[in-house]
Amino acid sequence: MRRAQQKSAAPPRSDWCTPTNVINTLEQFAGQVLLDPATNVRSQVRAKLNWVRPGDELDPSFVVREAGKYRKWIHQDGLEADWVQSLELNPSVPRNLIYVNPPYGRKENKAWARKIREQASLLPRNLSIVALVPANTETNWFAEYWNEADVICFVRGRLKFQGAEHVADFASALVYFGVARSEFRSYFHALGKCIEP
Ligand SMILES: C[S@@+](CC[C@H](N)C(=O)[O-])C[C@H]1O[C@@H](n2cnc3c(N)ncnc32)[C@H](O)[C@@H]1O
Repeated sequence: MRRAQQKSAAPPRSDWCTPTNVINTLEQFAGQVLLDPATNVRSQVRAKLNWVRPGDELDPSFVVREAGKYRKWIHQDGLEADWVQSLELNPSVPRNLIYVNPPYGRKENKAWARKIREQASLLPRNLSIVALVPANTETNWFAEYWNEADVICFVRGRLKFQGAEHVADFASALVYFGVARSEFRSYFHALGKCIEP
């Protein structure tokens, strides 16, 4: 019995990728993700602009193949660079989306929560951010989300991240910053309980 429980859950890792049910919901909500500021070549998010940490794997032939699908991959530090300033927004597109599933870990959770909050404060009306983070509501860094987010979707059950053998041993939240609150809720209620903090 104990062994079965151990096999059914996995602790956080910094390179797990977003499950397809979350990606599908993001795309139903906003179409193609415009920027993924923290990614790797195994991710299925396939945003228009993808930032891989300098030094991490980014094969030139992969970059060329992806360019053929109008997806740009570059080495860029997502914690250093300015997300909002890096994007050219088409004014006729009402809902542009930055999606971030940052690396998880005590130091990383804090640093990325700060970064997300900083970038959220710079958003124009036609750009929003969705962040997939551990639902550690007891932490100081989660307060960055409680205090500033427009909607938080507490994911039902536990996610099975791509690249993970088992479901995660922690709960997740999708944190939304933007003006399309009711639209976000209407798409994401399929994944969990949405609240406006
Ligand atoms: C949890 S994974 C998410 C991957 C992908 N965005 C997805 O959701 O499918 C986080 C990724 O961020 C990358 N990363 C970590 N620090 C970064 C940084 N400062 N800039 C860009 N990417 C970073 C890691 O290498 C890792 O692949």
